[in-house]
Amino acid sequence: MKLKQIVQATIAATALIAGVQVQAAEVEVLHYWTSGGEAKSVAELKKMMEAKGIVWKDFAVAGGGGENAMTALKARVISGSAPTAAQIKGPSIQEWGKEGVLANIDAAATEGKWDASLPKVVSNIMKYQGHYVAAPVNVHRVNWLWVNPEVLKKAGAKAPTNWDEFFDAADKIKKAGLIAIAHGGQPWQDATVFESVALGVGGPDFYKKAIVQLDPASLTGPTMIKTFDTLTKIKTYIDKDAAGRDWNLATAMVINGKAGMQFMGDWAKGEFTAAGKVAGKDFLCLTAPGTEKAFTFNIDSLTMFKVKDADQQKAQLVLASAVMSPEFQEVFNLNKGSIPARAGASRAKFDSCAIKSMDDMDATSKSGGLVPSFAHGMAIDSAKAGAIQDVIAKFMNSTMTSQAAVQALAKAAKAK
Ligand code: GAL
Repeated sequence: MKLKQIVQATIAATALIAGVQVQAAEVEVLHYWTSGGEAKSVAELKKMMEAKGIVWKDFAVAGGGGENAMTALKARVISGSAPTAAQIKGPSIQEWGKEGVLANIDAAATEGKWDASLPKVVSNIMKYQGHYVAAPVNVHRVNWLWVNPEVLKKAGAKAPTNWDEFFDAADKIKKAGLIAIAHGGQPWQDATVFESVALGVGGPDFYKKAIVQLDPASLTGPTMIKTFDTLTKIKTYIDKDAAGRDWNLATAMVINGKAGMQFMGDWAKGEFTAAGKVAGKDFLCLTAPGTEKAFTFNIDSLTMFKVKDADQQKAQLVLASAVMSPEFQEVFNLNKGSIPARAGASRAKFDSCAIKSMDDMDATSKSGGLVPSFAHGMAIDSAKAGAIQDVIAKFMNSTMTSQAAVQALAKAAKAK
C-alpha cells in the first residue's frame, strides 16, 4: 500500500448514504479510459471518492472499445475476486446478471430517485430483473464525423452534409496531399465506421431491422450491399499505416491537421478538448453523412459486482450515488465528450457539440431515430456482436466483395 492510501484508509469516511455513516473503505473500478480525455474524466471520480474518504483502486486496462478490459474482468470474476464495479454496458449487463454476480444497488437508486432522473431508455439498461445493478455515467453519440476546418480550407473543400459531398471533400483533401480519413484498423473501429455508414445509407428503420433485429432479408438485401460498397470506397481514403492504430492517435491526426476527417463517437471530442481545441472553431462535429435525423447511443455505466464485506458494500453504494450526482455527471462529461445520462442536466458549461447531442437525443427519441450502437455493445448480445464485428474487420482488411460480406454477415448474426 502506498503511504497516501494508508492515510486515507485510516481517515473515517464522511460520506452518507441513506443516513448511514460510511467507514473508510475501498472501491476497485475496472475501466478502459486511458486516453488523454478519458483519463481526465475518470480522475474526477477518483477525486470525488477520495474526498469521501474512500480509497480508489484503479483497475485500468488499456485498449479502445474495452475488449482487453472484458478479458481481464472475466478472469477476475472466475477467480472469485470481482472488482467493486466495472465499465460494462448494454445487453452485457443482462449477461452478467444471469451469472448471479451483480450487486443490487436499489438503496442508492431509491435514495437518489433514479427512476425520476433518468430517461427510460437509460434506466431500463441499468436494471436486471427490475433491480438497479449499474449506474450510468453518460450518453455518448457514435454517429459523428470529426473534421478539421483548416484542412478543408487548404483543400478547397466544404463541410460535407451527404455522401456525395463527403466523397468530394475526401477527393480534394487527398489531392492536397493530406490524409482524407483518419482511421485505426482495429475491429471495433471498423465496426464503428460500418454502423455509421449503414445508418447513413439506409436510415434508422433499416438500421433497426438489419442491425438490431438481425432480419436476414435486411442483412443481405440491396441496402446492406450499398453499405459495403460505400465502405469499399471509404477504404481508399485511409492511409496505409492505419493497421492497429489506436483511435486517439487517429483523432490526433485530425487535431494536428495531418488528416481531415474521422468517423468516431464523441469520446473523440474529449481529445480535442484536452488539446485545448474549441468546438465550431478548431474542429467541427458533423453528423456522419445521411445521419442528421438519427442518433446512435452508447451509454457507459459502472456495473456493480457483489462484494462481501459490509464496509465495501457501503462504499459501493457511495460510488453509485456519486456517479449519479449532478456534479459528477457534469464534470465527467465535460471531459469525456459525452452528455449527462441524467435528464434535465444544466447545459450552461457544455459546448455546441454537446448541446447538439442533447437536442438531437430529445428529437430522435420522439421521431424513432434514436438507435442503440451495435459497435459499442448496446444493440445485441456479445456473441453475435463479436461474430458480426469479425466479418466487418475481415471485409475492411481484404478484397472481400460486398456480396460475400452480406452472406457472411447473415451467418454471423446466428452466432450463439
Ligand atoms: C467506447 C466507450 C467509451 C470509450 C471508447 C474508446 O466503447 O463507450 O467510453 O472508452 O469506447 O475506448
